[in-house]
Amino acid sequence: METLETVTSRPLLLLIAGAKGAIGSTLALASLIMRDQPDVIAPYLTTADLWGESNASATVHVAGWDVSQRQMAEALALHRVVPESLWQGMQGALDQVLVAPAPDGGLSVSDQVHQLLRDINTFQEAYPEAQPVMINLLPACSECCLSTEDNAEAMTGAQFPDLAYARAAIRAGIPVVNFTPNDLGDPALAATAAEKGIPLVGRDGKTGQTYFKVVLASALKARQLRVDGWYSLNILGNADGRNLMDPECARGKLANKTELLDDVLGYRVGEAYGESAHKVHIDYYPPRGDAKEAWDVIDIKGLFGLPMSIRVNLQGRDSILAAPMALDLARWVVLLQAVGRGGEVPELGFYFKKPEGEQPATTYEDQLRDLKSLEALCRQKLAV
Ligand SMILES: NC(=O)c1ccc[n+]([C@@H]2O[C@H](COP(=O)([O-])OP(=O)(O)OC[C@H]3O[C@@H](n4cnc5c(N)ncnc54)[C@H](O)[C@@H]3O)[C@@H](O)[C@H]2O)c1
Repeated sequence: METLETVTSRPLLLLIAGAKGAIGSTLALASLIMRDQPDVIAPYLTTADLWGESNASATVHVAGWDVSQRQMAEALALHRVVPESLWQGMQGALDQVLVAPAPDGGLSVSDQVHQLLRDINTFQEAYPEAQPVMINLLPACSECCLSTEDNAEAMTGAQFPDLAYARAAIRAGIPVVNFTPNDLGDPALAATAAEKGIPLVGRDGKTGQTYFKVVLASALKARQLRVDGWYSLNILGNADGRNLMDPECARGKLANKTELLDDVLGYRVGEAYGESAHKVHIDYYPPRGDAKEAWDVIDIKGLFGLPMSIRVNLQGRDSILAAPMALDLARWVVLLQAVGRGGEVPELGFYFKKPEGEQPATTYEDQLRDLKSLEALCRQKLAV
């Protein structure tokens, strides 16, 4: 009989779509380091606290796909996320990570799925003892959304690359974490995943500025301080930032970063002005690379409607914030699959800007409470 211990200590196999990107290569390095020095990585996992430090050190294998022909070590050096001094001597191990070429963009979605299923089979043969999880780290692009009239079979994979990865995973019985802002746009897939007991969770990892926005907005709400306006600016110089300079690709991301504030507060910020006073801007600024900086100007009102203001300046590191969260989510979905909790999981809203599923919690307090309730469900269903 499965226990919490047997499920959480089983090796993981992360199947990463976009494996050589900034987050994917950071995750590959973290997974390698974890094998010999779990204490370097485990303290930064939220799941270590949830179900015991000792289980946070299970072996994590990485495989996946990318359009890039670069070796993994070269990709890691290129993204400049982790100083080379921290992975000296690991180049050989990094370059052994199994990364298959992404399916040709000219293929139909279903032909892409067939190719991906073959690759998944190969990866599973290489790590037969490991529990696989698909992690979507493809570039952001809102063009990927399917409208209800679109027929996915008639589209080429290039128009909608995310869908093929998610479909292949669900067909193979593998849970999916959609870390991107891309809407998989296929309600039938979520329904199938729910029926088969396979978690399909997303979307848009809540890593930096938006995480602190939810925390602060929840605190202001609890204190009955009225938010009159919120101005957020981000500069970043990685490939994600460059990609987000394309308004089409930024649309989904900006919507995810913007809409949640009103949801947390329960009113429309800017109501008094007849238009939204919550502004979010993202600017590509090459000198910063992955070291993203964000500023928030928060105008609030207290007793007698008198104005006050708060400034927040986050000097973050995009992929350093994101990689452990992707690993946490992989650990969660494996556990949820073991207890038969498939489909969308809105209780994982703590991790996402745009949590999929019915009525996800909006405030920080409620999102933490939801995580506790998921943990309780897992403990209850799996003998400890
Ligand atoms: N870093 C964060 O804090 C954060 C937060 C939320 C969401 N995200 C999202 O996570 C995703 C990944 O971010 P990143 O910084 O690693 O991006 P990135 O651009 O560095 O990596 C994307 C990778 O995908 C590869 N790729 C492109 N098309 C592909 C295809 N069809 N098949 C396989 N691989 C393909 C690219 O070659 C690249 O290596 C983005 O969608 C980003 O918006 C990041």
